[in-house]
Amino acid sequence: MKFQLVVLSGTPGTGKTTVARTLSGIMDVKWVSLGDLVRDKELFLGVDTERGSLIADVDRLIPEIGRLAEEAEGRLIVEGHYAEVTPKDWVEKAIILRTHPKELWRRLAERGWSEGKIRENVQAEILGVCTYNAVEAYGWELVYEVDTTSKTPEETIKEVLEIISGGGDKYRVGRISWLRQLEKEGELEKYF
Ligand SMILES: Nc1ncnc2c1ncn2[C@@H]1O[C@H](COP(=O)(O)OP(=O)(O)O)[C@@H](O)[C@H]1O
Ligand SMILES: [Mg+2]
Repeated sequence: MKFQLVVLSGTPGTGKTTVARTLSGIMDVKWVSLGDLVRDKELFLGVDTERGSLIADVDRLIPEIGRLAEEAEGRLIVEGHYAEVTPKDWVEKAIILRTHPKELWRRLAERGWSEGKIRENVQAEILGVCTYNAVEAYGWELVYEVDTTSKTPEETIKEVLEIISGGGDKYRVGRISWLRQLEKEGELEKYF
């Protein structure tokens, strides 16, 4: 392993930035938000006008993550909803934050986002897109999921620390399925 990075991914609103910031302080390890990095260093190909977001230039972003990791002597928390672009041999663990669609909708509405943008992100959360992408990039062994729904940020950080320190077996991928849950609650149609 070239570096020992902690990758923190999840749909927007699941709590990545909140968790990364505090975790960084507790672990005394630097953190980087890929969204901020792309914006600040202009590592984008263009603007997605429909979504009002930047289209990351991954080919330039990856070496930049590498430079920051080098500077941080191999220890870094990398946070972003496409953080699985971080190469596998740099990654110690990937932790995906998950949030029940109803609660995620509430958090994103608080940001003043349009219904269309909220729906698109909530649908991605229901389908587990970030988890899928992380598993595809790293394999099941490196990927963990934490449910933030009825937790405080402090409780979530505690669970993330548990995973990082090696006690993460109960956070393995497979437990969280919003599809299953919404079907049980009779709420699935509401989101599609
Ligand atoms: N358990 C939790 N973990 C993290 N954030 C939470 C949690 N519960 C509620 N929140 C709130 O959800 C919001 C998440 O926002 P943010 O950290 O910016 O998410 P992201 O970076 O994933 O888009 C914050 O307002 C945070 O206070
Ligand atoms: Mg964020």
